[in-house]
Amino acid sequence: MTSKLYIKTYGCQMNEYDSDKMADVLRACEGMEPTTTPDNADVILFNTCSVREKAQEKVFSDLGRVRELKLANPNLIIGVGGCVASQEGDAIVKRAPYVDIVFGPQTLHRLPQLIAARRTSGRSQVDVSFPEIEKFDHLPAPQTTAGTAFVAIMEGCSKYCTFCVVPYTRGDEVSRPFADVMREIEMLTAQGVGEITLLGQNVNAYRGELEDGDIADFAFLIQAIAALPAVQRIRYTTSHPKEMTQRLIDLYATTPKLVSHLHLPVQCGSDRVLAAMKRGYTALEYKSVIRRLRAARSDISISSDFIIGFPGETDADFEATMKLIDDVGFDASFSFIYSPRPGTPAADMPDEVPHETKQARLQRLQVRIGELEATISASMVGSVQRVVVEGLSKKNEQELAGRTDNNRVVNFVGSPGMIGRFVDVRITQVWAHTLRGELATQT
Ligand code: SAM
Ligand code: F3S
Repeated sequence: MTSKLYIKTYGCQMNEYDSDKMADVLRACEGMEPTTTPDNADVILFNTCSVREKAQEKVFSDLGRVRELKLANPNLIIGVGGCVASQEGDAIVKRAPYVDIVFGPQTLHRLPQLIAARRTSGRSQVDVSFPEIEKFDHLPAPQTTAGTAFVAIMEGCSKYCTFCVVPYTRGDEVSRPFADVMREIEMLTAQGVGEITLLGQNVNAYRGELEDGDIADFAFLIQAIAALPAVQRIRYTTSHPKEMTQRLIDLYATTPKLVSHLHLPVQCGSDRVLAAMKRGYTALEYKSVIRRLRAARSDISISSDFIIGFPGETDADFEATMKLIDDVGFDASFSFIYSPRPGTPAADMPDEVPHETKQARLQRLQVRIGELEATISASMVGSVQRVVVEGLSKKNEQELAGRTDNNRVVNFVGSPGMIGRFVDVRITQVWAHTLRGELATQT
């Protein structure tokens, strides 16, 4: 009987990607098949996130729940991976001794060896080292039937924003060699993939080695990918405002395959707070990037990440953020109240702002962004949008769901044979977070 693998993923798209790779590694080495419930699993993995305290604490409460399964089945393997694992290491086994393996984002390719070592030694195994980019050399070739795929091009982050734990949990920026990235994309397009999303903490900091020893920057990589005839659409996430070079911005004028949507985290609109966050740009510099992007691609939609209540954020700082939101006209964005992370510089900064004030600010910001998002959605009614069909609609299985350039889900009537393909859909109606449409022409 094939053994079963259950993975629970917390946090960002990078973690989603890593979870897929864990499943690939265990399928290739152990013939394991995924299951959707932990109850009948032989291996349970938690791929964790530590970017905010809430996400971190959730892992320990979820672990408590699978403990009973381990009591009933001593052969069950319980593993903790991702950023909490990276930060806590051995401390996880001390707090939850029934955890068998602890591995970091950079050691997930060693899962089969870690599981084998746990089985033969009877002792919990911990490996949260940063063996550079070795991980990608040890992952099985990608396999997919979907029309769209993620490709990690770099790992880690060297920006050390004062609030953020990622450089400590994922290590410094390391780029995959240019030829490796291109090979993976060619393998995916050979399987019918038309849309590629390039992934990394700061994809536009990409510096991939070329075979002749030169370095390819992110703009060079995009040009090379866009030149592949089978690639129809290119997305990337996340990028950093400081790394938006003019070469990259210019591509929006010359490369239609780049989507008209960019997720560009700004965090805040106050220069004082931006400096305390060590973001490396001012609000004006951020706006200058957006102005140049819109000069290259007038209809580009911009989404962002915001942190509310950074230590010492005043009313004036918050108003500067609200002003920036109106100046830029952001599309659907992520916003969270600042969560102090142990070991980061901001965790030691004095913070007198009451929690209720932060919540009221967050609420105001989210209402405003919601209004802007709704205005953009409403302006799409009547337009024809090229969507990649991702699957059956969640609400109605008689319908399909596709994703537009600017990241909106459109539900429309079509045949399941269209899944994985690009079709043109005319937008007819707008709902809170989705759109409705009808098939225009198929491409
Ligand atoms: N590379 C990206 C950038 O340019 O900012 C961000 C990656 S970070 C893992 C994702 C988001 O988490 C950030 O943009 C930030 O808004 C949020 N974040 C990070 N640390 C946080 C903290 N301590 N409290 C609240 N939100 C946080
Ligand atoms: Fe975190 Fe700043 Fe890097 S938000 S991931 S340290 S760019």
